Amino acid sequence: MASAIILAAGSGKRMNSALPKQYMDLAGLPVLTRTLMVFDKHPAIEHIFLVVSANDTAYCRQHILSNNSWGKTVRLVTGGKKRQDSVYNGLKAAGANIGEGEIVLIHDGARPFVSKDMITECIEGARECGACILGIPASDTLKRVDSRGIIYGTISRENVWMAQTPQAFSLKLIRDGFENAMKKGLSVTDDAAVLESFGIPVRIIPGSRNNMKITTPEDFDFAVAMLRSVVLP
Ligand code: C5P
Repeated sequence: MASAIILAAGSGKRMNSALPKQYMDLAGLPVLTRTLMVFDKHPAIEHIFLVVSANDTAYCRQHILSNNSWGKTVRLVTGGKKRQDSVYNGLKAAGANIGEGEIVLIHDGARPFVSKDMITECIEGARECGACILGIPASDTLKRVDSRGIIYGTISRENVWMAQTPQAFSLKLIRDGFENAMKKGLSVTDDAAVLESFGIPVRIIPGSRNNMKITTPEDFDFAVAMLRSVVLP
């Protein structure tokens, strides 16, 4: 069995909305409810740790946890200032409930189009090599741009992938990694980067463009359009 840490403690500044993006209504259900449903229904997921901001705990209980009939217990964990602080709080909560050798998946609550197969494949990858994440090969040419909007470099897209979540790890590997990273004052935007910085191999397997992270109003409109094109759950 495996466990999931779902991150939903961000304030969603880039969405320009008073309500954080994870709580916004996406074609009839909050973004976060859609994300949680996929993990709740997955047969290999045993525990779910939902990391939310201290200010949003009551809102989350009322609008996410009470508004749906969940098959699994969703444990609320208080998030931190940065994403990596929220992950670490989730890892500590997981550590109090599951064995060190078990697999833990870390997933952005703002990626509601994660699929059952993506979760399964990440778990299998992490069982085989300790750490496995989803990503997609970069298809556009990548530019480095300065604060004036002037390009100062082009990054070859050969061998460049864009990381997604879920990112799956054996609990001990990623928790020790986070503790060592914190001692070194390392700042990361995804979890694999923690292990990479210590030279620990992380496998990357193909995710999907559909597994987008809803970040901007444009992403949100795109997500609505995607849902309209399929049968709504
Ligand atoms: O900021 P970003 O889009 O990278 O956030 C990815 C995920 O991490 C989101 O689901 C967000 O709610 C979560 N997050 C968090 N705690 C923070 C910042 C972001 O749980 N302090």
